[in-house]
Amino acid sequence: MVRNSREEWKTRAEVFDAFTERVLIKLSSQKHFDGLSSIVSPGKEAVVFAAAKGEEFVAVKIYKLETAKFSKMYDYIRVDPRYQRVQNRKRQVIFKWAEREYNNLLLMREAGISVPMPITHRDNIIVMEFIGHDQLASPLLAHNAPENPEDFAEETFRQLEVITKAGFVHGDLSEFNIINHDERPVFIDFSHMAPLKAPNSDFLLERDVKNVCRYFSKIGIDKDPETVLKELS
Ligand SMILES: Nc1ncnc2c1ncn2[C@@H]1O[C@H](COP(=O)(O)OP(=O)(O)O)[C@@H](O)[C@H]1O
Ligand SMILES: [Mg+2]
Repeated sequence: MVRNSREEWKTRAEVFDAFTERVLIKLSSQKHFDGLSSIVSPGKEAVVFAAAKGEEFVAVKIYKLETAKFSKMYDYIRVDPRYQRVQNRKRQVIFKWAEREYNNLLLMREAGISVPMPITHRDNIIVMEFIGHDQLASPLLAHNAPENPEDFAEETFRQLEVITKAGFVHGDLSEFNIINHDERPVFIDFSHMAPLKAPNSDFLLERDVKNVCRYFSKIGIDKDPETVLKELS
């Protein structure tokens, strides 16, 4: 966690423009949270905060309006059959990108995948369940290998199968978008998730499977990506 440092101020300056401040005030007046507490992740396109809500915490993901790579986002989202009408205008692309992530989280929740429960979204902001203990986010799989790699891998591949069976591909899956929450995988960062009928879904699925297999082979679980792909299709 970055706190009270120069980086934290830089991150805050990049994300808190007047528009975003107003959206945060609206969300807070609707009682989704009391106020932002600490930065969990100062990402390039989005910053994730822990926000207090009474005694608990929620996660608030804010897409940056200025530094966002919106033309890349546009290329990805316009081939999703659900979002073909998105226009190539910066704010609209960013808002739709956040909306798609929220809707994807809802779909995954309904399919039974272990994801943060989505709470609400508005413009460039998503509010969701905080995966951690108090204000401390649980670590990414990349930073905290499982104690029992076999069980963790089995559960991860099982969830991958459920996502595919539901007709979707995560699209940005790797050890950097799986949280190791008390030794169980929680999938996050669903902004890339697209239906399998999207024209780029084969490419995305192959990339996801290869990333996950590469990670698990590093911790001693050998799975052949081709076999996994065959099992999924
Ligand atoms: N719901 C959540 N609860 C706890 N931590 C989270 C949550 N969502 C994201 N994070 C943390 O914030 C980081 C960035 O979030 P992510 O959605 O992957 O955005 P991006 O990779 O686009 O910056 C994650 O790697 C994770 O550490
Ligand atoms: Mg991520």
